[in-house]
Amino acid sequence: MTIMSTIGTCNPALTAAYDYAVQYRQRPRALDATQNAAELRRKFCLPTPETGRDGRAVIDDLIAAAEPGLVANTNPNFFAWVMGGSDTTGVAADWLTSMWGQNAGIFQTSPAAAIAEEAVSTWLLDLLDLPRESSVGLVTGATMAGFVGLAAARGAVLARAEYDIERQGLQAAPLIHVFLCDDAHATNFAALRYLGFGEANFVRIPANTQGTMQTDRLAEAMRARSGPKIVIATAGHINSGGFDDFPALGWLCRSHDAWLHVDGAFGLWARVLPEKAHLTAAVEAADSWSVDGHKWLQIPYDSGFAIVKNAEAHRRAMDISANYLNRNPDDGRNPTEFNPELSRRARGFAAWAVIRSLGREGVIETVRRHCACASELRHRLAAVPAIQIRNRVDLNQIVLRVHDCDQATRLMADRLNADFNTFVRTAVWRGETVLRISAIEKDTDLSTIAKLADNIERLAG
Ligand SMILES: Cc1ncc(COP(=O)(O)O)c(C=O)c1O
Repeated sequence: MTIMSTIGTCNPALTAAYDYAVQYRQRPRALDATQNAAELRRKFCLPTPETGRDGRAVIDDLIAAAEPGLVANTNPNFFAWVMGGSDTTGVAADWLTSMWGQNAGIFQTSPAAAIAEEAVSTWLLDLLDLPRESSVGLVTGATMAGFVGLAAARGAVLARAEYDIERQGLQAAPLIHVFLCDDAHATNFAALRYLGFGEANFVRIPANTQGTMQTDRLAEAMRARSGPKIVIATAGHINSGGFDDFPALGWLCRSHDAWLHVDGAFGLWARVLPEKAHLTAAVEAADSWSVDGHKWLQIPYDSGFAIVKNAEAHRRAMDISANYLNRNPDDGRNPTEFNPELSRRARGFAAWAVIRSLGREGVIETVRRHCACASELRHRLAAVPAIQIRNRVDLNQIVLRVHDCDQATRLMADRLNADFNTFVRTAVWRGETVLRISAIEKDTDLSTIAKLADNIERLAG
């Protein structure tokens, strides 16, 4: 008897979820939600249930309520935002994670979860070729990874100014200057706010045409200010896929004793391709990095990694200790030392399974294929007079306009979505409406891109 059938005989809810989930991935389905918010509310927003309901029936209700509101980011024709497609081996490991029900707070609450995270941390540092002494926190995504890296940065730059944030708190601390690109990803500003920084502390550096920092303006701004400094750089701009000039930034940060944090939510994975080595040259000299698992690695949501070279600074910023949280000298890694949560999902199992199933070769193949997709699309569309390409297309992103017109660009997106089984979205970037196409879903390949290019060409007239 298989495990599923054993479970199935005692738990119809599990069998129903399993049967549905497997066929969901196999059958054709809408790419966008087919019901609006009001319609979705009718099935979800019921009066508070006073009595219980059979688990099997609840799962059927959930499927009926949710499916019309699902978006197909697990489909290769999904090019909107920058989102991964939830690898099925990762999904299987995620199911086990829920079934095992582990709390990956400390080593003793789940030794297996703690050691899986340890293994994933080592693999990541190896794959990304970052300093092997770094510590890694498995967090919910790049937003939280940025929060963790910047919390470590805040403590470390204040310690260099002989200020102990853990003891004295932030209120009387010396002013920290935080340098970041005006066009940095919004989540960096959010993470800074969570850490007690506000607009008055940000030194916004003007962006170049790729949305990354004008390095000479950063150099000027750093020269003009004294005191503790943190610089936030980007590896893979959300629109252009562009990269900061890491050799120059590294040199500036060393000269000013500043902490360099790199937001590499998806772009840091360019590290695995030798032909893209120039994009991330010297990124390894930074102090901390944030990178997602749920984007290019296709680990199911939520999966992000906060990587900090100075493990002690990382631990000081995050550790939670209490006298009931037992630790023995021979315990393995305590996950809570490296992320902001105590009770938490055992994120290491799905991450371990996806990296194990892809292997280094699979990671390289995925990143290379998606970069080739963007490059091929650029090649095809460069020959179409109605299309203007707005980025350099160094990575997996392509940003374009139609007839150099906001309305025509929006119309193109609407028609691709309505008529061609495609999911795209526009954005406003550098004051213009643009169509931003991200090749990152696990199965997107050159044949998907050929169809997209044909359709854009046809619509552009
Ligand atoms: C450059 C960059 N930084 C940070 C984030 C935030 O990542 P997450 O949504 O995983 O928290 C994103 C998301 O697209 C991103 O592209």
